[in-house]
Amino acid sequence: MTINGQGVEIAIDNRTTLVDLLRGQPNLTGTKKGCDRGECGACTVLVNGRRVLSCMTLALALEGSDVLTIEGLAPEGELHPVQRAFLEKDAFQCGFCTPGQVMSAVGCIQEGHAGSADEIKEWMSGNICRCAAYPQIVEAVSAAAAELGEGSR
Ligand code: FES
Ligand code: FES
Repeated sequence: MTINGQGVEIAIDNRTTLVDLLRGQPNLTGTKKGCDRGECGACTVLVNGRRVLSCMTLALALEGSDVLTIEGLAPEGELHPVQRAFLEKDAFQCGFCTPGQVMSAVGCIQEGHAGSADEIKEWMSGNICRCAAYPQIVEAVSAAAAELGEGSR
């Protein structure tokens, strides 16, 4: 598969989930394992441009796929507009949910589901924040969508 634009070949046990693969040998620990059962969204990454819960995805099924993690979002070191918006709007406290929130926000905006606060709440509802930074997260997604011009496609 390709991870963050780089082709990788890794021998894995066939029960390995994508989150465990990413956090293992490639050491991409930005993707967080929260609940490990598809409930919190902390492990969200993009696969072929679509949001997936990496704890619920068998890595073996992704042979040939294109995986984007938080580490690949700003490869040149300049923050992605969504990352910048999260900083500017103070959209986190502990930050544990943040990589998943950011990746989900990128997907949400690309899908054209960020046209209003209600729409953002609905389409980001799979991402839980224990610190309850939800108002700021919605503001950040909205601001990034406005900057990217893709929110209400
Ligand atoms: S760790 Fe995957 S949804 Fe919670
Ligand atoms: S910022 Fe702490 S869980 Fe979201």
